[in-house]
Amino acid sequence: MSTSHALAASHETSHAAHDPLAPVFAQYPLEVLRGEGVWLIAPDGRRVLDLYGGHAVAALGYGHPAWTKAVTEQVRALNFQSNAVPLDVRQRAARKLIAFSRLPVHSVFFINSGAEANENALKMAFTLNPGRTEVVALEQSFHGRTAAAGALTWGAAKKWYGFPRTPFDVKFLPRRDASALAQITSATAAVVVEPIQGVGGAFDLGAEYLQAVRQRCDATGAVLIFDEVQCGFGRSGEPFAANLYGVLPDMITSAKALGNGFPCAALLMMKKAADAVKLDALGTTFGGGPMACAAIEATVDAIEADGLLANVRRVGAYIRKTCIVGPITGHQGAGFLTGLISTLPAKDVQKALLEQNILTGTSGDPHVLRLLPPFTLKEAEVDLLAAALKRLG
Ligand SMILES: Cc1ncc(COP(=O)(O)O)c(C=O)c1O
Repeated sequence: MSTSHALAASHETSHAAHDPLAPVFAQYPLEVLRGEGVWLIAPDGRRVLDLYGGHAVAALGYGHPAWTKAVTEQVRALNFQSNAVPLDVRQRAARKLIAFSRLPVHSVFFINSGAEANENALKMAFTLNPGRTEVVALEQSFHGRTAAAGALTWGAAKKWYGFPRTPFDVKFLPRRDASALAQITSATAAVVVEPIQGVGGAFDLGAEYLQAVRQRCDATGAVLIFDEVQCGFGRSGEPFAANLYGVLPDMITSAKALGNGFPCAALLMMKKAADAVKLDALGTTFGGGPMACAAIEATVDAIEADGLLANVRRVGAYIRKTCIVGPITGHQGAGFLTGLISTLPAKDVQKALLEQNILTGTSGDPHVLRLLPPFTLKEAEVDLLAAALKRLG
């Protein structure tokens, strides 16, 4: 056999024997063919209520007509051009995102993922604070898998960080503990917090604590970054958690729900950070591409046209009122980033709910079941969750 035939033969054998995907994800026992509103539909017709939204991404659920139309029209018109070419759709997406935020956002930098948004926010923080070498984050935080974002992710060093050293010094503070904020000093370049921790268990930090973080940053010159990749862009029932808590950071990172499934992210900069951005300081190939921008624009438009912030507030309150049943004894979080506190291990509740055709999430807290539903979820669907929880006793 020639070498190339031998290679082809061994390739075919390994192809037949192996799943070609890197085995890094635990997967649900669930096959999904398509989605409809808040429902996932399996090849055999099984319908599963999706209260997890693909890790908080599917803001509009599945098959939203206006979003689908806008993205389809954009792909027909122009699938890609880089930031070297000015595009009207990019301008519109940035302007609409800023208007949607109802915050004094001065400029937007579009990238592709939450971790990338955080990397760029950190780069801007070090630009604003030359000579400082430390970043402060909170215990139980999750900020992403890249070198800088992973360095700020609680527990990553032990579990998966993988790099020989972090790009800067990192200090983790206990969450919601104002007395620990004295550890933010004039050596601190940036403080990065999720105003409502996602992976940490839909754990809300609260207005008072966030105000104290803001004050300590002002006193020391540290840049305050809100990682709103999971909790932002409408999920709390307000445009951003910054609005919910009335605390203004220097930068906000956004991703996940932002494109309703089209990969995209944004770094929102208030004036001080925006003024420090120079030509060529930041860059990206895909970020701000026309399809991503059409997806962002259409998601903002749909949230506004369909009154989805009000829906998240109303149905979020309904979840809290009706779902403290069965093994659930309490709740935390805000809006549609809800943590249901359970007497049973959350992973057992998740499994039992999936057997009743309801998909939910777990979290870093073994007793917190995490809900991240599409913003379109209605009371009648919450009733299905409450009934299923009751059956778990
Ligand atoms: C709060 C937060 N920040 C950052 C990230 C990382 O986002 P991505 O996976 O898009 O890089 C996540 C992802 O779960 C997140 O929840």
